[in-house]
Amino acid sequence: MRYLILSDLHANAESLDAVLARVRNRSYDAVVVLGDFVGYGADPNEIIDRVQRLRRRKLLVRGNHDRVAAGMDLGGSFNPVALSAARWTAQALTAENRKFLADLPVGPIEVDGRFVICHGSPLDEDAYIFSDSDAAWNFRSIGLDLCFFGHSHVPSVFTLEPDGIRVDVVRGQRYRWKLEPGRRYLMNPGSVGQPRDRNVAAAFAFFDSGRREVVFERVPYDVASAREKILKAGLPGALGDRLLVGA
Ligand SMILES: [Fe+2]
Repeated sequence: MRYLILSDLHANAESLDAVLARVRNRSYDAVVVLGDFVGYGADPNEIIDRVQRLRRRKLLVRGNHDRVAAGMDLGGSFNPVALSAARWTAQALTAENRKFLADLPVGPIEVDGRFVICHGSPLDEDAYIFSDSDAAWNFRSIGLDLCFFGHSHVPSVFTLEPDGIRVDVVRGQRYRWKLEPGRRYLMNPGSVGQPRDRNVAAAFAFFDSGRREVVFERVPYDVASAREKILKAGLPGALGDRLLVGA
């Protein structure tokens, strides 16, 4: 089985279109989205519509921005820029798409007995996994040897090895990772719509369960148009500017 793994789309239609164009001729059985469909970008409805139109099995979890935009949380933990974007998004969403966000399942969820999906971490959808100590608690909480998470917007791999936790930040346009028996993995495919690893290209991954392999990829997209839309919508300009630097 091949799974397309997407995370942190953040209402950026240009980046999602670039990813979908890149994978159009690939074979895959299911699409996984690790949350944050909306927030920050200017195209929240378009993102939800595009994901819903995909003719593949969909495995979705909500993100913290989806929860706030759907009105299920006032966003008290958000910084002023994120909160302003969440309020803009809440106004922009159609009633159907607000319901789509509100109905998204909360991670962690086990998929096909093969892996776990969640937004921030298996223990807490709002928590970040940046370090080996962040990862340690989460390795203990999952019942399978592989978990995909998002939220940090940094493509990364945490591996529980017999002598400790190895941390790898994934670099480059394409990176193939072979899963080894006896190891446990927490993997972040990176962000489609708001990369934060100083690489402006949209990030995504494929998991091939037969080959036991994850391939991380990057695809350039029309950053200038996505930024222009953010400015025209009256969203905070900083949200457009950060797309230019991938941070
Ligand atoms: Fe996010």
